[in-house]
Amino acid sequence: MKHLLKMLDLSEAEITDLLNLADQLKYERKHNIPHPHLAGKTLGMIFQKASTRTRVSFETGMTQLGGYPLFLSANDMQIGRGEPVQDTARVLSRYLDGIMIRTFAQQEVEDLAKYGSIPIINGLTDFCHPCQVLADLMTIREYKGSFTGLKMCYIGDGNNMANSLIVGGLKVGMEVSVACPKDYQPDAKVLEFAKENGGFTMTDQPVLAAENADVIFTDVWASMGQEGEAEKRKIAFAGYQVNDEVMAAAHADCMVQHCLPAHRGEEITAEVFEAHANEIFDEAENRLHAQKAVMVKVMG
Ligand code: CP
Ligand code: NVA
Repeated sequence: MKHLLKMLDLSEAEITDLLNLADQLKYERKHNIPHPHLAGKTLGMIFQKASTRTRVSFETGMTQLGGYPLFLSANDMQIGRGEPVQDTARVLSRYLDGIMIRTFAQQEVEDLAKYGSIPIINGLTDFCHPCQVLADLMTIREYKGSFTGLKMCYIGDGNNMANSLIVGGLKVGMEVSVACPKDYQPDAKVLEFAKENGGFTMTDQPVLAAENADVIFTDVWASMGQEGEAEKRKIAFAGYQVNDEVMAAAHADCMVQHCLPAHRGEEITAEVFEAHANEIFDEAENRLHAQKAVMVKVMG
């Protein structure tokens, strides 16, 4: 594995490998066993969008691996003033041992990998959020033991989270159901993969999608960069909420996951969120362990 650009690039074996390593690194951290796999290495972390979890988990994760995390705000870099990504990639490849980037266009991440010569990790684009979904899969396996026979359900915007969850869920063998409004469906490439893969259903009815689910996901109605559409989206997504009615359709022991930040009263009720807070904050913690596994695999 050279980069982590999107879930579509990973095989089931690579995902399993990453999750196993993440479990091991989590165990070692709990037992204070040092694991300086990236001693002497530097990770550049380019942020074009805001972040709490991604920044802090990569920064602390790299430190725990013995390396150095370098925070780079895109607005303070020449790339923010129009320096081409092709040049940025070739320059940064001379200094760094790896790059994590959070930006808008997936193409920018693909281009960094194409023109640079060091590993690139996607820390979220408008298209996908693979680091998050690796942590999500890790959390599901932790709670449920395995993915065999599980049904994952996603309710809400067909956004970066939906795209990555559909691909990740199907690749590890779960059944995946999605409920999205007609005008807010997942990416066409993802739907094509899902249809070829089988085990996938899509509807515009949340309760139907949630039937017999083992894990239900949702995400914000307006993602970063869509702030101007927030009011329009509130109307389009009314009814696409994880609430008691949706939970009643799922299995009694159904988990709830949310990548965070959450908007209580919009995509999820405060009651459902708090009833599943342990699972949701374990999911947030697992960002750290899953991303450390990614860094070790691509930079180690
Ligand atoms: N879930 C997630 O990526 O959180 P941040 O935006 O805080 O990094
Ligand atoms: N879909 C959200 C995820 C945030 C982690 C966004 O892109 O803003």
